[in-house]
Amino acid sequence: MDRQQRLRIAVQKSGRLTDESLDLLHRCGLKFSRGKDQLMCYGENMPLDVLFVRDDDIPDLVQEDVCDLGLVGLNVLEEKRLAMLARGTTPRIEILQKLDFGRCRLSLAVPQDFAFDGLQSIAGKRIATTYPHVLARFLRESGIAAEIVTLSGAVEIAPRLGRADLICDLVSTGSTLTANHLREVAAVLASQVCLVRTPVALPDVKADWVRRLLVRVDGVQQVRESKYIMLHAPRAALPQIAKLLPGSESPTVIPLDGTGDKVAVHAVCRETVFWETLESLKAAGASAILVLPVEKMLA
Ligand code: PRP
Ligand code: ZN
Repeated sequence: MDRQQRLRIAVQKSGRLTDESLDLLHRCGLKFSRGKDQLMCYGENMPLDVLFVRDDDIPDLVQEDVCDLGLVGLNVLEEKRLAMLARGTTPRIEILQKLDFGRCRLSLAVPQDFAFDGLQSIAGKRIATTYPHVLARFLRESGIAAEIVTLSGAVEIAPRLGRADLICDLVSTGSTLTANHLREVAAVLASQVCLVRTPVALPDVKADWVRRLLVRVDGVQQVRESKYIMLHAPRAALPQIAKLLPGSESPTVIPLDGTGDKVAVHAVCRETVFWETLESLKAAGASAILVLPVEKMLA
C-alpha cells in the first residue's frame, strides 16, 4: 500500500464507537469488506484504508503519523493530550471536525450509600479512573484535593473491591453505573467523536481526499435528522404550514392540477420530524403527508 497515495484512518476495533464510525465511512461512500480479525481493510473505491485498533491507541497513532486520520472520542483525546503535556511532549494532533455521535460524559459516580453533598464531599477520598489527567485537571480547577487511583479497566468495581471510594468513568447510557449500584454526581467532561488528523503535512493527492471526505462527512451529518416532507394543502393554509415545518428553508409550492386552490408542498426539514408535527400539519389543513428519509445532501 502506497503511503504517499493512500490515506489511512484509525477506527476503534470493537466498542461503543465501532459501528457508528464504520457507518459514517460507508455513508461517505467508502466500500471495503472486513473479514474476521482483520486489522486492516483496503478501501475498494477510495484511496482510504481502515486500521482497526484500541481507541486508546488512536491519538498516538495519529500524532506519530502512523495513521493520517482517526475517529476517536474527545475523552480519550483529551486524556492523551494532557498526558503528552505532562511528559513534555507537545500535542500536535489536529481536530478536523467534531461529529454528532459517540456522545457521552466522563463523570464522578459514588456508591449508593456514599453521602454526597457537593464536591467538597469527595475531598480526601480515593477516586478510581482510567482518566487520571483529565480528572486531575478537574480536581485542580475545582479546588479539591483527593487521591487518584489510576486503573487500566474495570473501574466500576473498584469501590466494591475496596480499592477506591468513588470512580470517575465514562457514562453513556448509564447502565454500567446502574448495574454496579453507582450514582452519577458530577460531570467532568462532555465527549463526542472527533475526526482527527496527523500534524504532518500531507502530499497533495491525500490532502485533496481529506478535503473531499470532510465535505462528505458534513453532508452525512446534515442529513442524519433530515427528512423530505411532501403534503397537499389549501393555499390559504400555507403560512401556518410553513411555520410548522421543523428547520426548513422556503418550501417548494406546486399547484395541483384541477383542484382549485390546492397546492403540493415539498420541503427539506433539518430537524427530527415527530408524529406531533404531522398531527399539527393535518390540523392546519394538510393532507396526503409523506415523510421520506434524505440520503445525501451537498450544499
Ligand atoms: C465506557 C465505560 C463503561 C461504559 C459506560 O467504556 O468504561 O464501561 O463505557 O457505558 P454505559 O453508560 O452505556 O453503560 P468504553 O466504551 O470507553 O470502553 P473502553 O474503556 O474499553 O475503551
Ligand atoms: Zn478505550
